Amino acid sequence: MPSSPQPQHAARRSPILGSALPLGLVVTAVGILLSLSGAEAVDAPQAAIPVLPEPVVVEAVPEVQVGATTAADPCSERSVLEAIAVADDAAIIAGFGGGESFRAAVVAGNAPCVSLSDPAHVWVVVNKARPLDPVDFAPSSLADIPLQMTTRSGQARSDVAAAIGALAADAAAEGAGRIGANNGYRSYDLQVATHASHVRSSGQANADASSARAGHSEHQTGLALDVVACDSSCGGIDAFGGTAQGAWVAENAWEYGFIVRYEQVGTGITGYKPEPWHLRYLGQELSAAYHHGGYHTLEEFFALPAAPDYAH
Ligand code: DAL
Ligand code: ZN
Repeated sequence: MPSSPQPQHAARRSPILGSALPLGLVVTAVGILLSLSGAEAVDAPQAAIPVLPEPVVVEAVPEVQVGATTAADPCSERSVLEAIAVADDAAIIAGFGGGESFRAAVVAGNAPCVSLSDPAHVWVVVNKARPLDPVDFAPSSLADIPLQMTTRSGQARSDVAAAIGALAADAAAEGAGRIGANNGYRSYDLQVATHASHVRSSGQANADASSARAGHSEHQTGLALDVVACDSSCGGIDAFGGTAQGAWVAENAWEYGFIVRYEQVGTGITGYKPEPWHLRYLGQELSAAYHHGGYHTLEEFFALPAAPDYAH
């Protein structure tokens, strides 16, 4: 369960308005209430029992849905159709009425034009139970990450590269220190080698808790990158959580469209140890909805099953 508010359900039908009480029962109840309240003083003249109007039967209270889509069928909205035609994720989300409305529509099954399995979109969910499709997917637009790199895997989707540049510039301007990056996009083949290296150094179980198997990594989408703190020199990813840059990122990354994908509280759902350095780009609309909703995993955000283990 996320510590976040779940979609709020329609207002419950009132037990009073929704039931018709027999008149006799009402009259008896009024009499009991009068006697309990002491209203029936011995010397008081007996008042005639008023004839109460029949309670009104209300068959249904109008449904109130908080966070619902702004349209009954958002996928048929002209703005959504136009945005889909040009693969403009931000405009598609806006056409749904914003990040929370988009999320709510997806969770409610009211977004057949949105696939959480399509790796070309910011809303893709990749985990141990949801491999990339196709498994050797590669993003169509990669750009250099405009940060100091500590490896040669220095690219990400162009929108992601721009967003991390803005984030790092603001972190430095606010005195949090310089941010660099370790790995951005990793191809299927590079993920094979990365995961194999983890298996060699720490065994299969430990490797699977910290490195995705090929075809299961967000790095392959171009939407993820690992950041490091660079002071006089750049540190490693493992040190990032304890740095001023790490604290700044944990608090502010959402404003730039990123989430910290693997948090301690999410380990039982994601199957990964915490990675305060692994930033996943969702775009600003969805990262704001994630942040304001108090979510800690993408699985909970989209009401998907936990995926702590591989099927095989
Ligand atoms: N370290 C993360 C889980 C990955 O390999 O994608
Ligand atoms: Zn990573």
